[in-house]
Amino acid sequence: MLDAMLAAELGDDVLDGDPTVRRLEAAYARWVGKEGALFLPSGTMANQVALGAWTRPGDELVAERSAHVVQWEAGAAAALHGVQVQTLAAPDGRLDPDELVRILRPASIHCPRTRLLCLEQSFMGDGSGPGGRVVPIAHLEGLARVARAHGLAIHLDGARLPNAVVAAGVPAARFAACADSVMTSLSKGLGAPVGAMLAGPAEFLARARELRKRFGGWMRQAGVLAGAGLHALEHHLARLADDHALARAVAVAFERHAGLRAFADQIESNIVMVQVERPGWTPERLTKALASEGVLTLPMSATSLRFVTHLDVGPPDVERLERALARILATG
Ligand SMILES: Cc1ncc(COP(=O)(O)O)c(C=O)c1O
Repeated sequence: MLDAMLAAELGDDVLDGDPTVRRLEAAYARWVGKEGALFLPSGTMANQVALGAWTRPGDELVAERSAHVVQWEAGAAAALHGVQVQTLAAPDGRLDPDELVRILRPASIHCPRTRLLCLEQSFMGDGSGPGGRVVPIAHLEGLARVARAHGLAIHLDGARLPNAVVAAGVPAARFAACADSVMTSLSKGLGAPVGAMLAGPAEFLARARELRKRFGGWMRQAGVLAGAGLHALEHHLARLADDHALARAVAVAFERHAGLRAFADQIESNIVMVQVERPGWTPERLTKALASEGVLTLPMSATSLRFVTHLDVGPPDVERLERALARILATG
């Protein structure tokens, strides 16, 4: 990847274009089967550019209540776009099409216009069950049919779409066909240092380009980063299966200990949620204890921790985790 970055042909993407960024945008658009794509600095910015491009102030979007666009983007839908969020609960990420129809509002001057449905694939979840669930393609296709029949645009937060593609054996373009726009992070499982892609139809991209400029997310000699992204798309997809196997091993390591539930038999991709139900232990206490053993994690909720596997961790790290857990939990 470093060689690809060093060898990247550079231009000025804000002026007449950076050739490596253009190659990356074309490669991603092909992968997801969309008309075109944009390179952005982060997944959050890509999501927010998409939300802004599909909506106008006073509109409403619908998403699962723990979705990244609802919980983890600092209220951006409201703060940046004046968009109201209506949430549905679906702990496995499978929004119920009938429930969606029930919450749609009548076309009336008194009501917000429900404009956008935001989906997430893989679905991170809220920590109460297994994370990184892959929403089945048949479910997504059914949901998309219903949403489109009611005039909604659909944005797919595919920060970890590559994981879903590898886990389900479904082409990215088939998942992406369930949405009008799709974003993917290059800096998660794919292992690039920075960047996210946003794809969609030409008219959407014209508006998205304007918003990317407004947010300051248009980068000049960005080919040095796009080179990493291209390398990731070309070389780091198939290996995601290793991350998924490792995630199952992480979950099994936790489940060897009473009061730590990690849903080992339900791990589908690279996220492991651990419910801490062990007397005397909280996610904070376990996080600190693991950190003192060199194992880093993120408290996800008042009762859970999140672990993510990626190309920089391997089986020896799981063995290290096993030893750390044995030492820590022996004390109480
Ligand atoms: C589902 C999901 N969407 C979007 C993002 C945002 O990506 P970034 O961290 O690149 O802003 C994340 C990051 O964790 C994510 O998990």
